[in-house]
Amino acid sequence: MTTTTKFRIATLYDKDYVLDLCKNTFSWGDYIDRVWDIWIREPNSIFLVAVNENNIEKPIAIAHGIIIPEKIVWIEGIRVDPKYRSQKLATNISLHILDYARKKGALYSSAIVSLNNDASKGLMEKLGFKMISEWTYISIKPIIFPDLANSIADNAKVAKLIEYQQILNFLNQPDIFKLARKKFVNSWRWHDLTEDRLKKMIHNKQVIIFDNNYNNNNNRKDNDDDDKKWNKIRGIAIIDKDGYWNNPNIFQIIYIHAYSDEILFSLVIKCLELVSSKENKYERVQIFSPSPIKDNSLLFQKFDNNFSEQFLLYHKEI
Ligand SMILES: CC(C)(COP(=O)(O)OP(=O)(O)OC[C@H]1O[C@@H](n2cnc3c(N)ncnc32)[C@H](O)[C@@H]1OP(=O)(O)O)[C@@H](O)C(=O)NCCC(=O)NCCS
Repeated sequence: MTTTTKFRIATLYDKDYVLDLCKNTFSWGDYIDRVWDIWIREPNSIFLVAVNENNIEKPIAIAHGIIIPEKIVWIEGIRVDPKYRSQKLATNISLHILDYARKKGALYSSAIVSLNNDASKGLMEKLGFKMISEWTYISIKPIIFPDLANSIADNAKVAKLIEYQQILNFLNQPDIFKLARKKFVNSWRWHDLTEDRLKKMIHNKQVIIFDNNYNNNNNRKDNDDDDKKWNKIRGIAIIDKDGYWNNPNIFQIIYIHAYSDEILFSLVIKCLELVSSKENKYERVQIFSPSPIKDNSLLFQKFDNNFSEQFLLYHKEI
């Protein structure tokens, strides 16, 4: 007997089945248990499950889509019960989400996929998504190096609004724009780093810049002509102290890009310094960079207990 699959909105009653389905998705487990309570009632989103018509209570696949302000439907959490894979369930559940998003006025769709996840990359490509940007994700245990802190991080400082244009110039440089697409990460969703958002982040003291000449240039006239041609910024980090998914113990560097590994390291040290005066509440630091970070990076040498992964950002017009 052939069974028909139905797609329906997830309900509170699905929770136990779904969390059971998502226990061992990846080698490290899964994160669906941490987002369930958020996703089930998130505005502008659709949380779908697939069920067989002969057992409509037991989801065999799930996916969540949310329309983010960029008119992008962000697709996440696609999971298919191993027994039902390769039957186009992921394809069809994604198509339902795209349909919902079009009706709601979304113009694009994006998703993030681990570089090692061949099935998911294949799925994205079959659905017509293109990979537009590759990100390195690093998780480290925060420690402060008292002997290094004052010297190495000297040229890294919290940006001021007056530096906004220089920061924008840095981000708009063709090589940097090509890598990052002017995106940053917010709660594991990639958003556009719009000019308004950037200004707000600078205002909130979230932006740290590495300025090679900061200490040597105090005598320079403010409207020095060279200023226009010469972008003195050599690296930028943006921090988020609030954590994500009801998880205040995680400190995130939601964007970091630097001209050298030493500058990258200095920026991270500075970011840690900035939060170390607060009660030492952070258990982990998550770092997102649109440029590759080599295995011999100082970040891996100096911090213990680290973990890293490459992620691909997929995008398409819908
Ligand atoms: C990735 C996943 C969702 C795919 O689900 P699925 O229902 O089996 O996928 P579909 O049957 O719709 O396959 C669609 C396309 O994806 C690709 N694909 C699916 N499984 C694949 C695999 N094991 N290897 C390579 N490509 C694969 C193929 O291109 C396939 O098209 P084709 O059948 O015409 O060749 C499923 O393997 C899964 O749940 N994996 C664990 C969770 C996960 O990785 N989720 C995505 C996180 S971003």
